Amino acid sequence: MSLLPQELRDAYEAFQAALDACGDLDALMRLKGAYIGREGSHAARMMDLLKAAPKEQKRELGASINALKGKWEEGLRIRQAELEDARKRQASLAQAWDPELPPPTPAKGAMHPLNRLMDRMVEVFRPLGYHVEEGPEVETEAHNFDGLNIPADHPARGSADTFYLKEHGDLLLRTHTSPVQVRVMQRLAPTIEARGGIRFLAPGRVYRKDEIDPTHSPMFHQVEGLLVGKGIGMHHLKGTLDYAMKALFGPKAEVRFRPSYFPFTEPSCEVDVRCPLCGGDGCRVCKGSGWVELLGAGLVHPNVLRFSGIDPEVWSGFAFGIGVERTAMMVSQTPDLRLFFENDTRFLAAMGGLD
Ligand code: DAH
Repeated sequence: MSLLPQELRDAYEAFQAALDACGDLDALMRLKGAYIGREGSHAARMMDLLKAAPKEQKRELGASINALKGKWEEGLRIRQAELEDARKRQASLAQAWDPELPPPTPAKGAMHPLNRLMDRMVEVFRPLGYHVEEGPEVETEAHNFDGLNIPADHPARGSADTFYLKEHGDLLLRTHTSPVQVRVMQRLAPTIEARGGIRFLAPGRVYRKDEIDPTHSPMFHQVEGLLVGKGIGMHHLKGTLDYAMKALFGPKAEVRFRPSYFPFTEPSCEVDVRCPLCGGDGCRVCKGSGWVELLGAGLVHPNVLRFSGIDPEVWSGFAFGIGVERTAMMVSQTPDLRLFFENDTRFLAAMGGLD
């Protein structure tokens, strides 16, 4: 650059400052004209200088002038792109803020499909006089096992199946919703005669030491049901569950009762529903049997009533525990339980919970 006359050196230094100061495209266009325009621009004047230069300097001076012009052109091009981008951004922002337009609608959330199913179960039982009860997820051994007539050596009590919180006394994560039976009966026992009995539904989370796989999760949901009255027998239980399954799965739903064993009911049964997918012909969901097991139930064991302060000579009742995930998987044909807990909004939307 040493060969450049003063005027060129000044123009070179001034350019960068002027370019930085350009706040919009109009200013940039003016700068462009002033530096590389055809007439009266710095570039045009430099060409005049070149013409007037002594012959032996022309070659070197010409190269310097070209390099300088190249730098200006590049600087102008980059700045122009920046300013055009900014203008576009501003234009779309201005559009987004059009006060005449209705406000943008935020993405809609929705209740989780498992919660919606539990709510539906509650609605099915409400007309029968069942109200909703809740119990703690951190339970005592007394409520989770003793009060339910589960003997001290029962395998479910082992630390292989149950999450114990040993450092907090005899606390554990409840393994089923059945301890809510004990809590509610203990609370209402003194007034049971005046109430004419007890009936409630208790939806909630339960915990077991199960490895996660397509049909197991260490946390899942149950809906517990209990009715205590006078002269309650299996026919009441069967009629109630038949009504509930028809309300849940449609008037053609068929229910089957199989003898089973639970320490807190006598007799006990497992309740199956005719597979709603294949209609009983046998498919993947019902594993070819035509039936899907959805709940355990039975007549409340006298020891359970007694433990909670209710006289089994006067009162009797039935209880049931519905597997919520199992029911949800069946009605939605979802083959993998984990989908319910991963919160992928595409799955939730497909379940009809999201718009
Ligand atoms: N608590 C049982 C379980 O988790 C389910 C159950 C069976 C609940 C029979 C009941 C019942 O109330 O009567 O497997």
